[in-house]
Amino acid sequence: MILKDILDKIPAIRAIAPGAVGELRLVVPDRAHLAGYAAALAAGWAEDDDREIGAAQLAALRADPDAFLRELLRQDGTAISPDGREVPRIPFRVFWLDDGTFCGAINLRFRPGSENLPDYVSGHVGYCVVPWKRRRGYATRALGLILPIARQVGLRRVLVTCDADNLVSRKVILANGGIAAGTRRAYGRTKLQFWVPTERP
Ligand SMILES: CC(C)(COP(=O)(O)OP(=O)(O)OC[C@H]1O[C@@H](n2cnc3c(N)ncnc32)[C@H](O)[C@@H]1OP(=O)(O)O)[C@@H](O)C(=O)NCCC(=O)NCCS
Repeated sequence: MILKDILDKIPAIRAIAPGAVGELRLVVPDRAHLAGYAAALAAGWAEDDDREIGAAQLAALRADPDAFLRELLRQDGTAISPDGREVPRIPFRVFWLDDGTFCGAINLRFRPGSENLPDYVSGHVGYCVVPWKRRRGYATRALGLILPIARQVGLRRVLVTCDADNLVSRKVILANGGIAAGTRRAYGRTKLQFWVPTERP
């Protein structure tokens, strides 16, 4: 087989081995990336593993994609906390993880001018990777990529928490320089807390 034949086959090889594709990027949710997000929801994935929310999101996205995106990115108004309270939204950034297709999401929430968070926000950063893209280093990379963005909004360090039994997430945090900062009980679970510096010394 000559080189040209091999090069011609690369798109087909990528199609059957999507994990082999490209660099992980954080992208701001937009129409161009919405189909990938919808496909993940349709495949049964949902943030926080909440399939009911996933199904509701998919219905809203299909009914009015632009309104769905506006709602996802809306900074004002209220949100529902994990214990069902209606709480004020605090400023946030949300990104989708993309390696050519949708891989997951990461968000940063913060109070301008402070490193404190309200009691209903467990940490500055939350992330998830769709099950079929796990174990490729994507969560580790995504947390690393959001640190300069946290720095830009004025945070010298971010509080990142994980359930005490979430060893994978703990690895992600430690790989990004996380420093243990005790535990916290939240919504009936024990959370490990870590401070992650937003700038490497
Ligand atoms: C936690 C989560 C984001 C990790 O995503 P990921 O992209 O697979 O993580 P990474 O590939 O960066 O892996 C991080 C480390 O965990 C290890 N790891 C990943 N999955 C693992 C598994 N199932 N079993 C054992 N180790 C695992 C990796 O090998 C890597 O270790 P290393 O640094 O020694 O190589 C993903 O599992 C997820 O979305 N879980 C559900 C939501 C969640 O728990 N979010 C975090 C809330 S704090």
